Amino acid sequence: MKKIVLGLAMILVFGLVGCDNATTTNSADDTTTQTVLTVLTSSGYEPYEMVDTDGNLTGFDIELMEALADVAGITIDWKDVDFSGIIASLQAGQYEVAIAGISPTAERAEVVDFSNVYYNSESGLVNYLVYLNTDSYTTMDDLDGLVIGAQLGTIQAELLQELADEYNFTVELRNSNSMIVEEMNLGSIDALLIESLAASAIVDANTNLTSTEFGYSMDSFYGNAIAFAKGSEYVDIFNAALVTLQENGTLDQLIAKWFTTTDTEE
Ligand code: ARG
Repeated sequence: MKKIVLGLAMILVFGLVGCDNATTTNSADDTTTQTVLTVLTSSGYEPYEMVDTDGNLTGFDIELMEALADVAGITIDWKDVDFSGIIASLQAGQYEVAIAGISPTAERAEVVDFSNVYYNSESGLVNYLVYLNTDSYTTMDDLDGLVIGAQLGTIQAELLQELADEYNFTVELRNSNSMIVEEMNLGSIDALLIESLAASAIVDANTNLTSTEFGYSMDSFYGNAIAFAKGSEYVDIFNAALVTLQENGTLDQLIAKWFTTTDTEE
């Protein structure tokens, strides 16, 4: 680990002094190939991360991470996994970095490190309930007796579990939001709780679905951040790269490209 980071620091220095095509003059036994870093993500979360028709990962997080890695002289080896396993595998030291629309909660920060927030959606985290447009759920009391789904391991899952008794609904957790959408179409789940941008993407892609803002906002879970294994040297590297992309306008361009909603939420 130490070795890789040293190599990386050198690449950064070269970058700074502007030796664009610096022939990597190196000590004999130094492997000068770019650092390859495995980064975890969890696709099926449009517009943050999804798989395109050619089977490639795309989305805001993917392009942001690629741009950050570029600044840092790192090559990314993507690994697409279930969201619910991400924090645990960083904690176990199995992998070192993850970007997946992750909310940097205090609870998670006990076991992983976070980058600075790279994107704040709205003021705090606003969630939407997505459901068949033949139904209408407008108040919390309308949730009485419903089966409501959320993605396993998310803060939306946690929120549902906290409110289930009070509002008398049943919680069903699945590995992906698309499974929950399928089950809504089959009639075994009544609604899906998901954050606002991802809700818009689902409603846009499924004409039989509609959404309503959920009455509980989660203001303390502000924004999205990259997660790292505790103590990872990559925290500083990616925070520095983030500053570069903030200053040169790349971050704003990516936000405009992926997060500009064309329609106002119904
Ligand atoms: N922001 C939420 C959380 O951190 C949900 C993230 C889900 N991300 C995903 N790629 N499926 O719990």
